[in-house]
Amino acid sequence: MSGRKILVTSALPYANGDIHIGHLVEYIQTDVWVRFQKLRGENCRYFCADDTHGAAITISAKKKGVTEEEFIAEVKKAHLADFSGFGIEFDNYGSTNSPQTRRFCNFIWEKIREAGLIAEREIEQLFDPVEGRFLADRFVRGTCPKCGRKDQYGDSCECGAVYSPSELIDPKSALSGATPELRKAKHLFVEIEKAHEFLSEWVENSGALQPEVVNYLKGQFLSDALFPWDVSRPAPYFGFEIPDSPGNYWYVWFDAPIGYIGSTCEWCEKNGERVEDWWFNPDVEIHHFIGKDITYFHTLFWPTSLKTAGLTLPKKVHIHGFLTVDGEKMSKSKGTFILARTFLKHLDPSYLRYFFATKTSSRVDDLDLNLEEMELKVNADLVGVVVNLASRTAKFASATGLADVYPDDGGLFAEAASKSEEIAADYEARDFGKAIRTILECGYRANQYVENNAPWTLKKEWTNLEKDENASQEARDAAKKKLQDVVTVSLNLFRQIAVYLAPVLPDLAKKTEELLNTKIESWDDVQRPILGSSVNEYKHMMTRVPKEGIQEMIEESKDSLKPEQSDQQAPELDGSQTTGIAPWFDSAQPLEDEPMSETITIDDFSRIDLRVGRIVEAEQVKEARKLLKLKISLGGTETRQVFAGIKAAYPEPDKLIGRLIVFVANLQPRQMKFGLSEGMVVAAGPGGPDVFLTFPDEGAKPGMRLH
Ligand code: 2FM
Ligand code: ZN
Repeated sequence: MSGRKILVTSALPYANGDIHIGHLVEYIQTDVWVRFQKLRGENCRYFCADDTHGAAITISAKKKGVTEEEFIAEVKKAHLADFSGFGIEFDNYGSTNSPQTRRFCNFIWEKIREAGLIAEREIEQLFDPVEGRFLADRFVRGTCPKCGRKDQYGDSCECGAVYSPSELIDPKSALSGATPELRKAKHLFVEIEKAHEFLSEWVENSGALQPEVVNYLKGQFLSDALFPWDVSRPAPYFGFEIPDSPGNYWYVWFDAPIGYIGSTCEWCEKNGERVEDWWFNPDVEIHHFIGKDITYFHTLFWPTSLKTAGLTLPKKVHIHGFLTVDGEKMSKSKGTFILARTFLKHLDPSYLRYFFATKTSSRVDDLDLNLEEMELKVNADLVGVVVNLASRTAKFASATGLADVYPDDGGLFAEAASKSEEIAADYEARDFGKAIRTILECGYRANQYVENNAPWTLKKEWTNLEKDENASQEARDAAKKKLQDVVTVSLNLFRQIAVYLAPVLPDLAKKTEELLNTKIESWDDVQRPILGSSVNEYKHMMTRVPKEGIQEMIEESKDSLKPEQSDQQAPELDGSQTTGIAPWFDSAQPLEDEPMSETITIDDFSRIDLRVGRIVEAEQVKEARKLLKLKISLGGTETRQVFAGIKAAYPEPDKLIGRLIVFVANLQPRQMKFGLSEGMVVAAGPGGPDVFLTFPDEGAKPGMRLH
């Protein structure tokens, strides 16, 4: 035991909808990380809870005709069943609607008050006169003031526009259909600008954040004054009433992260521990796992609350991207909005755990689930390489048992054991994909050993000798020993892999324990072969992914969701703090690859005549590897012929016809082998398939000049 004390959390799922595969990206990766730490012998605890407060809960409870408390109790049961189905093991799963969370809300609030960070202000908000409540932006629908689309949210439109609900045309309450009124109400704000200096220092120097997150926060927030954070809501509101401001409640996002502490408290009470030893102890490593959409809550507001209250700051906030399915957002019409329980009904959860793990890295990148790729990977890696090792050898081992002395294996066991720290470092850094690649290499070598030593032939030889009346006992024993040695090596190499993969595939680890009659207790089990023990009858460890299972799951996902259900997955966000658009985490790589040019004057720039053009013809130049021949209209009868090196990036030129592009119109024409090129289309990217044309915004017309 190296003595690390680690407290881990995943974002608390909102108690207003089912767990789906998008959620599972996070819970699976956290669970893998926690299991890894525990296997390493660290004192690591995993806490989570349902995030239960806010107007959306009241509305859903009302629809069902139950109280909010009854509603959240039912949801909690369903969430726990889903998590346990996927092998996600919390040390405690609580609720933000708990006395423990309330106690810590009070404590943190008092400290924030004492520090002089609370301000009061009246604000105008839309009010539903029929329901008698103020409306969060997502409960107002109306026509977008920018593009005129109907039935848009109060704060943002599908067109990308962001506005305030009072700008919405013909607004209606999504609760009652009534026209909302603008009313004033007192709100309480945390002036996080007062913590600006601390936040800048923490963001930049604590090492808690990924480099792309540091850049995002510096660029989007910390370069300006920070807006006060609106943390209260007037009654009626399902949540905790603010003790020193009767009639006002903490906004759900104030108490949500405090639920991490509440859940820790619940666990401490059950296990004779003190919460102070976890949250007030600078030696404890706090690790939050979250999605990129809630970055600023966890990297600006939350550290401010913790710091002000004298609690321990996170050692690391591990931020991951979103899940896409086949490169697109999960979609109900395509059947890719898959609920956890629907997956469990049709497929083995280990498939998803493994696939997600192979795609997990320490970056914020989105993760794509391609179901065909999942099928191929599981079949090839797990069934074909890992389980294959056990299934091809274990059946012989029940007759021989394992040898008492580890046989000569040409150094294979030692080689796999020597990878232990490299694999551990990758798990620690959340580079699970990389860890798995190294583990699989051990698997390839082990399979090669089995091929070379063919235990099936050894078994035949031994059986033949047993049947042969003339064979000596010595010869029979020698044949048996030969087989025993080969299975001893094979099964020990298999077990090493099962130990390395145990954080990802706890079920496989359990079946390995049962097969070999030996518990997997520690990461260091990879260093010691198991010897002299009997081997149980081989039972299936994992089957190939059933194609029909995938199909049925997709079909059922098309049916199971009513249209409004995906909205319920969204956390309750507040328009005053978010644009409703996922943050971007742009890498510094492109600029590093191609540094900025030297400064030019505006006159230099104006010598380049950039125009909007429309592609009216586009075809491949057969004889040229890279070129498309384009005809560009600049409006009226003005056209230009251009040869552009974009063939690999745009293999279907027809699709470009009709599109507007940016065009360098006064470039000296150039005679090429295939004809005259009279200008240049503007594109970005390093080349080959990575070339990206630039398209002007809606409304631009051919011939318009770019300034
Ligand atoms: O985004 C969400 O679904 C929120 N319920 C997450 C809360 S995380 C934490 F702060 F509690
Ligand atoms: Zn719009």
